[in-house]
Amino acid sequence: MARIGIFFGGRDNGRTAKIARKIQEGFGIENADLHNVKSTNVEAISKYDFLVLGTAAWGIGEMHSDWENFIDELTEAPLKEKKIALFGLGDQVEYPESFVDGMGIIFCRLPYKENVVGYTSTRSYKFYYSNAEKEGEFVGLAIDEDTQPELTDKRIKDWIAVLKTQFK
Ligand SMILES: Cc1cc2nc3c(=O)[nH]c(=O)nc-3n(C[C@H](O)[C@H](O)[C@H](O)COP(=O)(O)O)c2cc1C
Repeated sequence: MARIGIFFGGRDNGRTAKIARKIQEGFGIENADLHNVKSTNVEAISKYDFLVLGTAAWGIGEMHSDWENFIDELTEAPLKEKKIALFGLGDQVEYPESFVDGMGIIFCRLPYKENVVGYTSTRSYKFYYSNAEKEGEFVGLAIDEDTQPELTDKRIKDWIAVLKTQFK
């Protein structure tokens, strides 16, 4: 049974779904299951030791709306023993003051922040503010398919290499 559960929310068949599939492939599809938060329930969480949670940024500085209900249930779920990694999509040119904020909101809502792994450098991005940035790093993987799609595959590959050492 897969030990990693990837839970994502974004536009139907949008970029977040595409990135979630790439992350699944990176771990090997036998090792990771995909769940759209729009059509799963929080009980699915309990099957996994490791969670990867991803959202697009929407509105101005919000999570994708499909996350709104799910996050309330998630924060009540037994997360204490689980390691969690986050990814967020955004557009640093159009939204430089709320870049990948959806990821930051998920982080803020998590009860056991010490369980979050997979922080990444902000160096290759240009933005003014992101609530997903803590002490100079993103709290997870930031993907910008709008303005830096050419960097996506390497960002995912490098991140998964780190997570493989953390998810054990
Ligand atoms: C209405 C709207 C609001 C957005 N707000 C933000 C934002 O606040 N911050 C950000 O970084 N990106 C923002 N974006 C960019 C999206 O997060 C980005 O295009 C993402 O790749 C969309 O993923 P999806 O196709 O899975 O929905 C916004 C896009 C739209 C259309």
